[in-house]
Amino acid sequence: MRFVPVLAHVLTTGVAARSAFYQPSEQMPMGSHSPSDEICPLPAKVAPPNDGFHSSLEFIRDPSVRERQVDRLSRVVQVPSTSTELEDDPWSDYYAPFGDLHNVLADLFPVLHSYAKLEKINRFGLAYTFNGSNPDLKPVLLMAHQDVVPIDDANDWTYPPFSGHYDGQWLWGRGSSDCKNTLIGILSAVEDLLTQGWSPTRTLILSFGYDEESKGWKGAGELAKHWEQRYGADSFEFILDEGGMGLQTIGDKIYARPGVGEKGAIDLHFALSVDGGHSSVPPHHTGIGIISEIVYHLEREQLFTARLDLSHPARQGLECQAKHSPEYVESWLWPALQSSDYVGLAEALAASRGERTRYTYQTSQAVDLISGGVKINALPEKINVTVNYRVALHENTDIIKARAIDIVAPIVKKYNLTFSAFVDSPPSNLKNHLDLSVFSPLLEPAPISPTSSRNPVWVRFSGVTRQLFESLPTPPGFGAQDSEKKQIIVTGDVMTGNTDTRFYWNLTRDIWRFNPIREGGSENIHTVDEKINIAVHLEGLALYYELIRAFDTWEH
Ligand SMILES: *[C@@H]1O[C@H](CO)[C@@H](O)[C@H](O)[C@H]1NC(C)=O
Ligand SMILES: *[C@@H]1O[C@H](CO)[C@@H](O)[C@H](O)[C@H]1NC(C)=O
Ligand SMILES: *[C@@H]1O[C@H](CO)[C@@H](O)[C@H](O)[C@H]1NC(C)=O
Ligand SMILES: *[C@@H]1O[C@H](CO)[C@@H](O)[C@H](O)[C@H]1NC(C)=O
Ligand SMILES: [Zn+2]
Repeated sequence: MRFVPVLAHVLTTGVAARSAFYQPSEQMPMGSHSPSDEICPLPAKVAPPNDGFHSSLEFIRDPSVRERQVDRLSRVVQVPSTSTELEDDPWSDYYAPFGDLHNVLADLFPVLHSYAKLEKINRFGLAYTFNGSNPDLKPVLLMAHQDVVPIDDANDWTYPPFSGHYDGQWLWGRGSSDCKNTLIGILSAVEDLLTQGWSPTRTLILSFGYDEESKGWKGAGELAKHWEQRYGADSFEFILDEGGMGLQTIGDKIYARPGVGEKGAIDLHFALSVDGGHSSVPPHHTGIGIISEIVYHLEREQLFTARLDLSHPARQGLECQAKHSPEYVESWLWPALQSSDYVGLAEALAASRGERTRYTYQTSQAVDLISGGVKINALPEKINVTVNYRVALHENTDIIKARAIDIVAPIVKKYNLTFSAFVDSPPSNLKNHLDLSVFSPLLEPAPISPTSSRNPVWVRFSGVTRQLFESLPTPPGFGAQDSEKKQIIVTGDVMTGNTDTRFYWNLTRDIWRFNPIREGGSENIHTVDEKINIAVHLEGLALYYELIRAFDTWEH
């Protein structure tokens, strides 16, 4: 997972916020002051099947399970399985730790490894098949990634990043929460079921890439092809990966927020080539000046619009909040959701819940790389800048490309440059030339996985999630222990970052990105002192266990 937006503090502190400038629109339909019964119905809870296997409560209550999970996760965190965009060859020494990781996994999950058919795809991609007895049931596919983000300065860490230190509550280390906890949670659930004598009715597939943090082409890219070749398009019941917004507490309710969509992504590269010379006799604008002018205009012209229209999945979550937690959210939220002012609604939410919320509804633009100049007395000749965009659901990568051309055209003219844009082989060795290109393979916004009450697969998934989290005791430190009053509401959301599922779109329409982690249950993903609360990890393990059981023999 690349980036999880920070949840708005206004919500978690329970203070109803009001937007200073949002005025509910005049054309608001009458009688819409509060949500009706049809809005955000809760799915029926799905009780665990009568399969004779132990209850998930055992994961939470049995101290030996906790100890075993600490040991498993710690040993896996100790393997420094980092990934990088800079090394393409899976056979290079760089990827050797993944071999060590596989040995550790084989050691930790002996029953699973003797039962499963394991294929290694493109050297380190892990493809496990647990063949079901009923070939008419579409397989379920669970995902995680084996790789972690590299460390910057290990000295900044409280405990060494690959020590897997456990302090009695938190397990520390790179990958402990992104996402070796997911990897270990899934494997542990299957190991546990097989140990109890489970033999699958529905085929279960586990698919673990090894370069998600470096775009995923080597791992997930090849794994997805492998599965499509074997099972064909649209052949899976559902796909569950890491990601999403976890479980968020709003007042007395808990919102589970799987990602049912992802923004797109595109990187634009502007490469300028100009005449060099002695810096004592410069032109009015050096190449660095011209590139700076481009950046200046990119950041100021044709700015992207935030928009929360009817097709945006986040709308459903907001409707649920207005219905089930009205005293904890903005008083204007429900009327605003009735209005057709989709831009005003998105702006009001960004103002009320924090600027980072904006990027759920708006394309982002970040100028991330710049380079130019080699010496203080020589004019720069080759200057380039690379800009990262995360494309909102109401836009696409063509819009980003067209906008860039529009914005640089007057600058190209002003400096009498020649210009090429998005051509396969740009002219080389041309002076006074600007070339605009796409830096890495582009990605359109993902198809939205349906969350309507007419989609039985989603309804069952929500019902299992609701049942589990309403029945488990709340872990210490995560709010009231009174489980009678607990209510879990499952709503789809959109991720601003991308996961390995970007390669899996052909396999099913039901793709969910969901780390079943409570708000506050993990910290510092991608940075110093990453850690996970073990009580929260155990709940995640329980969810995988319940989902596998709930779908194993289910037909619809
Ligand atoms: C899995 O089951 C299918 C039929 O249900 C069979 O064709 C296939 O050979 C089995 N694969 C393995 C690895 O057992
Ligand atoms: C950007 O410019 C620098 C300096 O001229 C050069 O080393 C680098 O390769 C360029 N990057 C790209 C992606 O063209
Ligand atoms: C613009 O550049 C072209 C060569 O690319 C040159 O022939 C022309 O004179 C230049 N015009 C100006 C106004 O500098
Ligand atoms: C999905 O299917 C389409 C159409 O068959 C194919 O062109 C594309 O390569 C597939 N996508 C992936 C990621 O495999
Ligand atoms: Zn991740």
